[in-house]
Amino acid sequence: MAEIDHWHPVYSSSLLTDKPQLVQLAGKDLVLFRTGPGKVGALTDQCPHRRMRLSAGFVEDGKLRCRYHGWAYNCEGQGESPGTPKLHACAESFEAVDRLGAIWVKPRTSDAAFPHFNIDGYYHMCTLFHRARAPLEVTADNFCEIEHTPTTHALFGYTLEGMPNVRVRFETTDTTVRVVNHGPPKPINPFLRFLLGIESHYQFNDDWTTHFSPCYSVYDHWWSDPKTGKESKVRWRLYIFFVPEDDGTTQVITFGFTKSTWPGPCGGIRLAKWYLVKNLSHEIDLDVDILEKLADKSPQLEGMKLSRFDRALGLNRERIERVYRGNKNAPITHESATLTRANSTV
Ligand code: FES
Ligand SMILES: [Fe+2]
Repeated sequence: MAEIDHWHPVYSSSLLTDKPQLVQLAGKDLVLFRTGPGKVGALTDQCPHRRMRLSAGFVEDGKLRCRYHGWAYNCEGQGESPGTPKLHACAESFEAVDRLGAIWVKPRTSDAAFPHFNIDGYYHMCTLFHRARAPLEVTADNFCEIEHTPTTHALFGYTLEGMPNVRVRFETTDTTVRVVNHGPPKPINPFLRFLLGIESHYQFNDDWTTHFSPCYSVYDHWWSDPKTGKESKVRWRLYIFFVPEDDGTTQVITFGFTKSTWPGPCGGIRLAKWYLVKNLSHEIDLDVDILEKLADKSPQLEGMKLSRFDRALGLNRERIERVYRGNKNAPITHESATLTRANSTV
């Protein structure tokens, strides 16, 4: 199943206790369990004996014990039967790690590298879990264009009146799609403006790159003086992973980092962390909420009237098919056009 041949974050590290937890990844049921500090296991959620859900079992002596007849499995899936000690039982197991506030899994047969987090000088502010009732492509679409920001978002993005002046640029490699925008920002409440160090004439900048093994986007958000380039005091770098639970549901898992020039440890961010995280989480709630209201959640682009901001949608789909799902015959197109003003059309 090529689409799960990557490292996927699937569950909150802080919520995984010694109680086994069922999660879904691309329609497959997995059970996660913790056997000690930082030590986690992930198995297919089905006992090889008589197909009981292992997530109904319990952890004992570093093993996950099936509730039906008591067979027990370690993190590598090696099992034993108390009633027939010589019987060899083996449950399908996944590599599992506890990192950056999430439990990550990968098939043992895959040699995919763990996603690279370029976060030197950044403070890890939060790891957030949201769930969108939409397929993978449609969920990623929402996070790969900024035309929705004036009417969907509270904090990030642009104003409707300013949209014709928002510049957008696309760059691609065989395995990435980059989108860069800047323009006049939407109004921000005075307290947040002060906290982030945004002056009234600053413009909003966002620059993100989407990767496809697994499917995630890395966003830089900041405000700056359009003439001098002087930046706001705080920058955001968000790693947002799009993890399909099944064909119609996608987890949106956000690793939030900030860099600040305020004095103090971590640029004073720790003091304002609760407020910033609340605002960030609300922005993603708004994304997830708008996806809920789509009249048609089909990933097909045919029949849509796309705008100059939507070029990433097709570029992403090709890479999802080829890189993420492993379809070597999927076409590949590149983009390096700069679409500066509203009179550019697709
Ligand atoms: S079904 Fe799991 S031990 Fe029998
Ligand atoms: Fe959004």
